[in-house]
Amino acid sequence: MSVALPVIDLDLFSSQPRESPAVISECKRARMYPRYSDALITFGALLVHDSRVSEEDNSVFLDLLEDYFAQPEPDLKRDERPELSYQVGVTLENTEKPKCAVDEPCLRVIASLDPAERPLDIAGHQPDPKCRFFWRLGEQPPYPTQYPGLNAPNVVPEVGSLKLRWEPTMQKWGTSMKNAVEGVAQMAALGLGLSRETFTDAGRYGPHLLAPTASDLVKYGEEDTILAGFHTDLNFLTIHGRSRYPGLHIWARNTGKRIPVRFPPTGCYLLVQAGKQLEHITGGLIKAGYHEVVVNKSSVETIKRRMKEFPNRPLIRISSTFFWHLSSDYDLVPITSLAKRAQELRLANQNTRIRAEDTEDTVYESMKVGKQVQNELKHIALMA
Ligand SMILES: [Fe+2]
Repeated sequence: MSVALPVIDLDLFSSQPRESPAVISECKRARMYPRYSDALITFGALLVHDSRVSEEDNSVFLDLLEDYFAQPEPDLKRDERPELSYQVGVTLENTEKPKCAVDEPCLRVIASLDPAERPLDIAGHQPDPKCRFFWRLGEQPPYPTQYPGLNAPNVVPEVGSLKLRWEPTMQKWGTSMKNAVEGVAQMAALGLGLSRETFTDAGRYGPHLLAPTASDLVKYGEEDTILAGFHTDLNFLTIHGRSRYPGLHIWARNTGKRIPVRFPPTGCYLLVQAGKQLEHITGGLIKAGYHEVVVNKSSVETIKRRMKEFPNRPLIRISSTFFWHLSSDYDLVPITSLAKRAQELRLANQNTRIRAEDTEDTVYESMKVGKQVQNELKHIALMA
């Protein structure tokens, strides 16, 4: 069975005056708001159509990152900042560990899936063979933050040709993704019956990260290689542009199905998935979406095709990923009305054959967002 993800159109939402009666009535007529929040509650993921996003900008960005990660390791190492828990600059391969292998609730999720729909086996708790770069995008908090390490200045690569292209390219593509995901955050708030700016205000000073990952397909291009093991993201919403290589699988909540992500062949589409901060603030009404990145049959075919078509380009899979965060100093507390709905949903699900994760009571303790991020970073071996 194939599962189609909902497609949400941001164009109308972003092209008209905010709160204009035309926008609201058109969105209601199109059932955009209810469809939107349903998409996140039911699937934890959706596709967004946003004409402001340029495929050309994505392509320039992917070229830059392929060139960057094709550098020798000693050059890449200069951009590592382990003392800042790798929250800016580069993370080299075999550093980050998928948390799920030692996380009971996550293992229960896997066990509850039909064996044919399970992720590739992460039981070894091996670190992921992926590299990554974190480029922070966002406003510096106008107050002293309790989490300066999560809000540190960016790293720019030293090499001349990369240095010149780096900042304009990262800023341009990162800003497109940030604008799109903030539109989605506002639609989510409206869809959940909150005021439009509820989430965007809470994330105004968030340490948002343009976070491309890089997988060396010469070393790790064999079918069924795990590039990033089964996990959820620790931030609020994650948005992905098109990658040049397939391999991202997501699990839409309540379907129990592994869904290989396919973008429509043309047009400006992005994939959005819920992260842990959204789960926390909604008291579990929206759950963070599980995903993995692996080398599947389509990835292998694409590798062969690109080797023929672009023999001089580095054979590196870059993910076009952006992590949108709530502000580090924001108090992360479930919103009462949503936590109540989550509880009702859990009770309703107890009488159905819904998987374990949707009937369990999870306690979402109040804490600063920065604390939640630090807790998660310790689990994935990025913070001591
Ligand atoms: Fe992820």
